[in-house]
Amino acid sequence: MHNITIETERLILRPLTVKDAEAVFEWVSDERVSRYMVYNTYTSVDQVKEWLRYIETAAKDYHFGFVRKSDGKLIGSGSIGPSGKNGFWGFGYNFRYDCWGKGYATEAAKAMIKFAYDNFKIRKFAASHVEQNKASGRVMEKCGLHFVRYGEFQKLDGTLKMRSMEYEGEI
Ligand SMILES: CC(C)(COP(=O)(O)OP(=O)(O)OC[C@H]1O[C@@H](n2cnc3c(N)ncnc32)[C@H](O)[C@@H]1OP(=O)(O)O)[C@@H](O)C(=O)NCCC(=O)NCCS
Repeated sequence: MHNITIETERLILRPLTVKDAEAVFEWVSDERVSRYMVYNTYTSVDQVKEWLRYIETAAKDYHFGFVRKSDGKLIGSGSIGPSGKNGFWGFGYNFRYDCWGKGYATEAAKAMIKFAYDNFKIRKFAASHVEQNKASGRVMEKCGLHFVRYGEFQKLDGTLKMRSMEYEGEI
């Protein structure tokens, strides 16, 4: 786990811990949020704890919880790291449903990209979304990435294969 905290205009990006399990469960158990994510919809807080323990101990990417400054509420999470090929860093994000459409994902993703550049001089970024998930594509574009090719999305457990759109960008 890292101990990095990043402040943006409206958000604090900070490490996630097992104590966040109940707040995280609220969105990862919501089918509207999980539909186009690689994880399956969570059905218990214990499953979330297991994931958070993995992040704390083993994850290679930098995972962040996104806290809204105005009320201190944890409203989403995301990660960035060297998961892409050819020196690209990949990133992703998800937010609780009642916080969509306010520019938070763009604000958080831009902050993660800046973090990667400031600390590791990473300039090349890649991300992808299920074709139907147009809002996520807009976030990627607003972060300076552009569509490069179609790919294949599948859930971590191999279920549900769908066409994805892959984006790349260099800052
Ligand atoms: C995708 C997601 C992170 C976007 O978060 P957000 O905070 O609403 O994103 P932003 O407000 O920063 O930007 C969304 C953009 O998409 C646009 N948008 C929203 N719905 C859209 C749609 N159906 N078609 C096209 N564009 C759409 C918005 O208008 C906005 O663009 P604009 O600023 O040019 O108007 C959020 O919907 C989410 O958590 N979804 C579930 C998890 C998920 O799918 N994560 C991404 C996996 S790749």
